[in-house]
Amino acid sequence: MRRTFQTLSVFALWILVGFTVLQLVPYGRAHSNPQPIAEPAWDSPRTRELAVRACYDCHSNHTQWPWYAHVAPMSWTVQFDVDTGRSVLNFSEWDRAYIRAPYAGRRTADGNMPPSKYLLTHPEARLTDEERAELARGLDATLNPANLAAR
Ligand code: HEC
Repeated sequence: MRRTFQTLSVFALWILVGFTVLQLVPYGRAHSNPQPIAEPAWDSPRTRELAVRACYDCHSNHTQWPWYAHVAPMSWTVQFDVDTGRSVLNFSEWDRAYIRAPYAGRRTADGNMPPSKYLLTHPEARLTDEERAELARGLDATLNPANLAAR
């Protein structure tokens, strides 16, 4: 019994040490929200509203950094998602072109965006089927007129 307790204590101690060491890694702390530059010409306020809810945490400069973004290893995934998300599509820096922007509607319609792992911790970003279709249509109208015409 005592032996088991000792083994467990040592084990817990090592977990704690390991966890503490993870906190020393400098990556994952750059929680910036740079000054927004320009937004796309949204087809309607409703499209923007839905995009803010479902996309802005990773594709804008209005990221709401959650508390666990301060704790490694979660901080690493959050930082990676925001950095990568912003680099492919940043609705707050619409002074430049994004090659993948025309696919925003399709990625929304097919359920690829927002990523499912994000929805686990952000139930407020979940879209009903109706909202999803609405946002996809709005994104198409805003970012991909050619695609809209083809439908
Ligand atoms: C949790 C963060 C996160 C959220 C929320 C999110 N995205 Fe993304 N998105 C990413 C990341 C990371 C990438 C780049 C890697 C990839 O393609 O999966 C990306 C890539 C993309 C791309 C380009 C890739 C492609 O397949 O064409 C589009 C377009 C996109 N997202 C649109 C959206 C839209 C629209 C929403 C909201 C409905 C959204 N995203 C919500 C993180 C996010």
